[in-house]
Amino acid sequence: MINNNILFPVKVPYSTAPDIVKLKDDFTLTPISDRIRANKLKEIDEFSSDLFNEIQSDNLLDCLNVINAKYNLPDSTTILDLAMNVEEDIAILKSGKVIAICFCSPSGFIPAQIVGKSFHEIHQPVPDSDLLLKMSDKLTSMMSDSSRGSYRRYVWTITSNPSMSQHPSLKNKIIPESIDDLYFRSESQTTIPIGDNVHMLFAVKVEMNPLSSIWEDCEKRNLLINSIDSMSDAMLDYKNLKLIKSILNNSK
Ligand code: HEM
Repeated sequence: MINNNILFPVKVPYSTAPDIVKLKDDFTLTPISDRIRANKLKEIDEFSSDLFNEIQSDNLLDCLNVINAKYNLPDSTTILDLAMNVEEDIAILKSGKVIAICFCSPSGFIPAQIVGKSFHEIHQPVPDSDLLLKMSDKLTSMMSDSSRGSYRRYVWTITSNPSMSQHPSLKNKIIPESIDDLYFRSESQTTIPIGDNVHMLFAVKVEMNPLSSIWEDCEKRNLLINSIDSMSDAMLDYKNLKLIKSILNNSK
C-alpha cells in the first residue's frame, strides 16, 4: 500500500551541496516517547560509549541549562541525560567544533569519535564535498548566529539494515537480494543557535520505512532510481549503494 506520509527528500541529481533551508516556525525538541526511550536504551546497551561523548566544561553545562529551560525539559548535566529526555539525536557545537554528542541512531559513523573535531574535519570522508568543506566556517558561524534562527536539511539513503542505527559494525550483515530486503532511511536535521552566537544545537530525527512502501509509487520510484544513477562511484561506495543500485535498476 502506498504511504504518502513518508519523508521523501530525494532530488535529482544527488548533491552534497549545503542545501539548508531556513525554518519559518520555531523548532522544538520532542519529549521522548516510551518507544524511542526503549530503542535508545537498547542501542546504548549494545554500543555503549560509542554513542555518546562530551568535553566537560562550564560552557557545556550552560548550554544544557539553556536548552532545558527553553524546551521545558527536566534538568540534565550531561549530553546523555539530555538525549534520554528527547526523541532526537543531539549534538552541541562550539565555534563549529563538536563538544558533545549522543546519537543512538547514527548513520554510518561512530558518534563518540567526532567529539573535538571541527565541521570541516567531520565532513572530510564525504566524497564530492569540495563546496561543503570550503563553506565550513561560513556555515558554522551562520548556524550559530541567533539573529538568523534555525536551519533544516534532509538526508536519505537505502539500506538492508532495518534498525534506525546504521552503526558501522552492522554494515553488510544482511546481503539484500530484492526490494523486499531494503529500507528507505531519512533524517530531518535541524540546527538551532543556543543564544551566544558561538554554540549551536544539532538535532536529528530518523525515519525508517520498508522500501516496498515507496516502490509502488511510480513517481517516487523513478526519482530514487534517477538520483542513485546520478551518484558518482565514490558516493555509491561511501553510501554502500553499489549492490542496491543494481537491485533497484533490475526491479524497475
Ligand atoms: C550545513 C549543515 C550540514 C551539511 C550541508 C552537511 C552535509 C553532509 C553531507 C553531504 C554528508 C554525507 C552524506 C549525507 O549523509 O548526506 C554528511 C555527513 C555527516 N555529517 Fe553533515 N552536514 C551538515 C551538518 C552537520 C553537523 C552540524 C554535524 C555535526 C555533528 C554533521 C556531522 C556529520 C557526520 C558525522 C557525517 C558522517 C561523516 C562520515 O561518514 O564519517 N553534519 N554531512
